Amino acid sequence: MKAAIRRTYGSHDAITIQEIEDPIPKEDEVLVQVKSTTVNRTDCANLTGKPFIMKVMLGFPKPRKIILGTDFAGEVIETGKNVTSFKKGDRVFSFLDMGLESQSELVSIKENSLLNIPENIDFKQAAASLEGAHYAYSFIHYVAIQPGNEILINGATGAIGSALLQFVRLFDVDITVTSNSKNNGLMQSLGADKIIDFTKEDFTKTGNSFDFIFDTVGKSTFGACKPILKEKGVYISSELGPNAENIWFDLTTKIIQNKKVIFPIPFSLKKTMPYIIDLLSTGKFKPVIDREYSLDQISEAYKYVLSGQKTGNVVVNY
Ligand SMILES: NC(=O)c1ccc[n+]([C@@H]2O[C@H](COP(=O)([O-])OP(=O)(O)OC[C@H]3O[C@@H](n4cnc5c(N)ncnc54)[C@H](OP(=O)(O)O)[C@@H]3O)[C@@H](O)[C@H]2O)c1
Repeated sequence: MKAAIRRTYGSHDAITIQEIEDPIPKEDEVLVQVKSTTVNRTDCANLTGKPFIMKVMLGFPKPRKIILGTDFAGEVIETGKNVTSFKKGDRVFSFLDMGLESQSELVSIKENSLLNIPENIDFKQAAASLEGAHYAYSFIHYVAIQPGNEILINGATGAIGSALLQFVRLFDVDITVTSNSKNNGLMQSLGADKIIDFTKEDFTKTGNSFDFIFDTVGKSTFGACKPILKEKGVYISSELGPNAENIWFDLTTKIIQNKKVIFPIPFSLKKTMPYIIDLLSTGKFKPVIDREYSLDQISEAYKYVLSGQKTGNVVVNY
């Protein structure tokens, strides 16, 4: 099979497409023909080994897994003899932040890590419904959103942000987003009430205040956002912040502040995916897809995603 291989941490130019042996499924594993994956920001962290904690988890000084890929959508082509939940022909998908070695034509995976793709969803949409939506789930499930709340999403054009906007839209709330001007139409179609162009205006200086500030691109700080949080307001960021301050603030603001920071430690896939699958099935969540690439072009896909300028998700088709 063909696979996207890297043997060291590095940038997009560390990736080569190589022909390697097909995986053989163990007794409790399912062999899947991959149809689509995404190149996402978690893949980029796995590729580069940054932040440093990634190297601690993935292997130091070299990564233990040489095949890239954290997600996939595909079709079951073989099952191990102890597999009971899946059969040949089933359409399945999965995600694992530490890597599934799924940027390859075939993946062998334990059946308890697999989920069925809803009938109305194609392979591209399925792949694009995993990483960003999985992280977006954490933002709204650590807090109790009430009708009438005013919510700001910083970076609603990203993979996490574009999923979160659609999740927050399901509540009866007022949503302000930051966006670049080329995505204003997209933001309105996904449910934004107000749009701030981050290239022209600083959202912390508009005079408005919010019950929740969800920074899904990790470009702000609690210090800058605190003055525009209402009493008992909550700040959540997808990044650790300068010197990992959001972890510290998560602990300290629980005790001494009426404005809180929550660091959204991701829930398990078993918890997040039933929610996401339900919204996909009922048409309430439609993943945003930006560019599409082939496996042979995957290094270019990484280059684009590493630029931090994708809109929603970048999909690789096999
Ligand atoms: N905590 C975790 O477990 C975890 C997991 C995954 C990802 N992350 C982090 O979460 C962040 C978001 O990931 P993602 O995949 O959703 O992002 P992404 O898709 O890469 O975000 C790109 C989008 O953000 C916009 N953007 C860039 N700078 C901005 C700013 N200052 N204000 C508002 N929007 C801005 C870009 O607009 P332009 O194109 O105009 O620049 C682009 O539309 C990344 O920093 C990633 O490292 C954290």
